[in-house]
Amino acid sequence: MPALPLIIDTDTGSDDAVALLLAAASGLGDVRVVTTVAGNVPLSAGTRNALVSLQVAGRVDVPVHPGCERPMTRTLSTAQHVHGQDGMGDTGLLPDPMRSAEPQHAVEVLLSYPRRHPGELTLVTLGPLTNIAAALVRDRDLLTRYRHVYCMAGAADLSGNITATAEFNAWADPEAARVVLQAARPDKVTWIGWDVSRRDAVMTAEDQSRLERLGTPMAAFAHRVNRTVADWARDVTGLAGYDLPDPVAMAVALRPKLIIEREEAHVDIALGDETRGQLIIDRRRSAPPPNLTLVRRVSEAGFKDLLFTTCAGIGQSGRDLKDIPGV
Ligand code: BDR
Ligand code: CA
Repeated sequence: MPALPLIIDTDTGSDDAVALLLAAASGLGDVRVVTTVAGNVPLSAGTRNALVSLQVAGRVDVPVHPGCERPMTRTLSTAQHVHGQDGMGDTGLLPDPMRSAEPQHAVEVLLSYPRRHPGELTLVTLGPLTNIAAALVRDRDLLTRYRHVYCMAGAADLSGNITATAEFNAWADPEAARVVLQAARPDKVTWIGWDVSRRDAVMTAEDQSRLERLGTPMAAFAHRVNRTVADWARDVTGLAGYDLPDPVAMAVALRPKLIIEREEAHVDIALGDETRGQLIIDRRRSAPPPNLTLVRRVSEAGFKDLLFTTCAGIGQSGRDLKDIPGV
């Protein structure tokens, strides 16, 4: 199977970083370009974290383009209480990026790449949907120009992580999420919500020590950057470890066969104060036609196998990951 040509839009914090490793070092993805957006951390920190993560994956050649600094209408609320002040677990051990960010704005890149390569590129979004919505204002048919669009967003079971019922990416910029939903079609756009991560992508104590024992630079990096998320999971979500929402979304894009359960539905998003960012899933017979494919379950074993083999440096690319610069 040829590697999947990818554009990744990310607010790089600790789990985005692991998703970038999967995309760039599993051998399943061909990362052409990365765009960044404010979310987990302010834009400059997320851009730096994306550059560092690609470097750890051995892909300093991938250009990173910063995008929107704030949501469409709301004040930026970051998740530094979850991912650390630096978004990467505040370990003090991050290497400096060897490459700088590109001057061209992310929205220009999201618009121009699929026009140059119609139907070829898969877009994976790992943060608030601000850049995508801004691009859609310019090109209403943008999503159809991609081969497929996968978004880590929402919580289809209405169990939230930022509020009782809302997931962070959908909550952070719900107006942007609505713009994306209004342009979506179920054969083109798939959402993987936090419900999937909570059930099928939790790193138990055993998984965490397995990751640590791999002893490679990528495994050490993936383990360390999730340090503060592990504390948050223990104190707030009560899961049996930290979960990996962006990596499981990336795994679905790279290997759709991991999907165990999905549904097509008409989905909207709540904008009001009490329900901000909550998904409104209309399953009535009288509902408007579906606009989205929602992934509901993923193979936990398949996801973790991809994670461990990638972090062990035995991704299918055959790339020698022993001498990664800057790590
Ligand atoms: C999502 O929000 C962020 O905290 C994570 O990076 C992920 O994209 C999970 O709700
Ligand atoms: Ca993210």
